[in-house]
Amino acid sequence: MKQRFKKLVAIGLAAMMTLSLAACTSGNESSSSSSEEKQTEAGSGKIGVAMPTKDLQRWNQDGENMKKQLEEAGYEVDLQYASNDVATQVSQVENMISGGCDVLVIASIDGESLGTPLKTAEEEGIPVISYDRLIMNSSAVSYYATFDNYLVGQKQGEYIVEALDLDNAAGPFNMEIFTGDPGDNNCNFFFGGAMDVLQPYIDEGKLVVQSGQVTKEEVSTADWSTEKAQARMDAILASNYADKNLDVVLCSNDSTALGVENSLAANYNGEWPIITGQDCDKPNVKNLVAGKQSMSVFKDTRKLAEQTVKMVDAIMSGETAETNDNETYDNGTGVIPSFLCEPTVVTIDNYEEMLLDSGYYTEADIK
Ligand code: BGC
Repeated sequence: MKQRFKKLVAIGLAAMMTLSLAACTSGNESSSSSSEEKQTEAGSGKIGVAMPTKDLQRWNQDGENMKKQLEEAGYEVDLQYASNDVATQVSQVENMISGGCDVLVIASIDGESLGTPLKTAEEEGIPVISYDRLIMNSSAVSYYATFDNYLVGQKQGEYIVEALDLDNAAGPFNMEIFTGDPGDNNCNFFFGGAMDVLQPYIDEGKLVVQSGQVTKEEVSTADWSTEKAQARMDAILASNYADKNLDVVLCSNDSTALGVENSLAANYNGEWPIITGQDCDKPNVKNLVAGKQSMSVFKDTRKLAEQTVKMVDAIMSGETAETNDNETYDNGTGVIPSFLCEPTVVTIDNYEEMLLDSGYYTEADIK
């Protein structure tokens, strides 16, 4: 695979062999390992964690969980947020490299924009884990830890099919579509997974998109911004729904769903539509409880952090990390070995069990 990563693995294996040999021959002396060995040991070293922004709730959770779990495992952590600004993230990653990080865990703002610092990482033998979002066109990426992104979209599509009983009801039903930032590779999977389910109903005329906006480019939302989704929904409502009901809005995630919900609250008097989302962000769970959002897809960031820490441990000890998908995610330089965590649909019927009983939120968080 990646040349430098291989080198690190080789160093790690050599270190392990030295350690076990030392353990066999001289008992306690095995603790006097060289500094090179220490660098590749699980539980010691410095890990850079680059998160896109604090503005969207989930990344705060991701960052906190990663820091906590990495520190519990014994690592020093350099955690940075980049305010959704690509240049800031580039310089943060550069600083992580010059600051001596042994592994980089990166949730990119734009999957294509980290080429230069990642080239340096590769040259210096610093392995990179793509976190949640796949970094594209860089051979520096060793692993990808994420949720099953296609399944997220598929679950949203299936929810709509069931909620409107599309296989039996006559329709037609009016639908609008919102996805996220076009620079986020996940969008292709969220949008693709949902549209694979819904497109046949659009083709047969059971679902009608009155705005005519159906391509990924037309329905994308820069930066996954709530305000931008709200502005687009304002325009769609004004031009198409003055005298029509809107039955359903497919939203790829909660920040876009929130914009849609804000717009509807201000501009729409018809029957409240079915609205999908993803992340179980606090304002959206409140809307779910208030009947303003129909579902969200819960991605337990604690589990993603856990899996990513396992990857870090494996890399640091020169082992191969556990993956469960080695064919889906090609970043343009080849398939990146991936671990996909499982997303769960959350509705009014199971939110207490999934979000409160599991300790993810307290009642106060979502009241
Ligand atoms: C994540 C989603 C999130 C979105 C906006 C995506 O890459 O997978 O969970 O809603 O970014 O932050």
